[in-house]
Amino acid sequence: MSRDETRAEPTPTYTMGYGPEFRKMLERRNAADCAAHLLPHLEPGMRLLDLGCGPGTISVGLADAVAPGALHGVDMEETQIEMARAAAAAGGHANATFQTGDATALPFEDASFDVVHCHALLNHAPDTAAVLAEMRRVLKPGGLVSAREVIGDSSLFEPALAIGGTGRDAAWGTFLTLLRANGGHPQMGKELKGALVAAGFTDIRAGASFESYNSADDLAFLNGLITGWYFAPRTMEAAIAHGVASEAQFDGWRRSLEQWMSEPGAFAAFAWGEAIGRKP
Ligand SMILES: C[S@@+](CC[C@H](N)C(=O)[O-])C[C@H]1O[C@@H](n2cnc3c(N)ncnc32)[C@H](O)[C@@H]1O
Repeated sequence: MSRDETRAEPTPTYTMGYGPEFRKMLERRNAADCAAHLLPHLEPGMRLLDLGCGPGTISVGLADAVAPGALHGVDMEETQIEMARAAAAAGGHANATFQTGDATALPFEDASFDVVHCHALLNHAPDTAAVLAEMRRVLKPGGLVSAREVIGDSSLFEPALAIGGTGRDAAWGTFLTLLRANGGHPQMGKELKGALVAAGFTDIRAGASFESYNSADDLAFLNGLITGWYFAPRTMEAAIAHGVASEAQFDGWRRSLEQWMSEPGAFAAFAWGEAIGRKP
């Protein structure tokens, strides 16, 4: 990792980390699926900021939607910015530029953008109000704010077994507890409307959608993600250190995942809340 491990991080403990397993999850994302609530509002020539852009898989689709306008992607993590630059170069998205930065102290002048968007950032950034205040500051008056975040308690694993469910005995519930212990906001998707009101935005439209895992390929991907990321030492050690799970629980969940995968009715869906609003 090229990051200087000694410098203060804007989001002190980012739960998901930057390993290859979770990156595969981000690589499945695109603007059509993840920014469907925003795309109808985008026009050629707009200046758009994608905050917490990660490896840029959503950003490049947003860049297309505003071309020949400019897409700026910002993320606190240099490795993600390098991947986003590579994705933009490979796809010929010449109007997309990426730079490192902190969502609570953006490197842009006031009123720089027509649209400021984030996807799966507010779930992780501890100070929601500080991020939204920065999003508002860099927006032009009348500009559009947009966010899409997970709703932990409305996401589902069927049959629940020990994998799904929101209690501390379930793998998913314990993940949400870990996210909260790291300063994150596991229910942010359903809190977006209130958060945008509190931040002074108007004309707010909120909605919700599911990301479904149904086919054998989808379920195999999910199995690989849970095994390779959640059951990996980095995540397990963090959960155990925070006292939100024990090694014995992880062993049990590992066995339950195998059982869950063999269920003919196995189905999972992550719930997302999305909202747009205007800077008055
Ligand atoms: C779950 S990833 C989402 C990436 C991308 N938006 C997507 O949905 O595919 C969250 C990203 O937010 C970034 N992030 C978290 N806190 C941040 C902060 N305070 N400032 C800038 N980026 C931040 C992380 O580095 C990470 O790349």
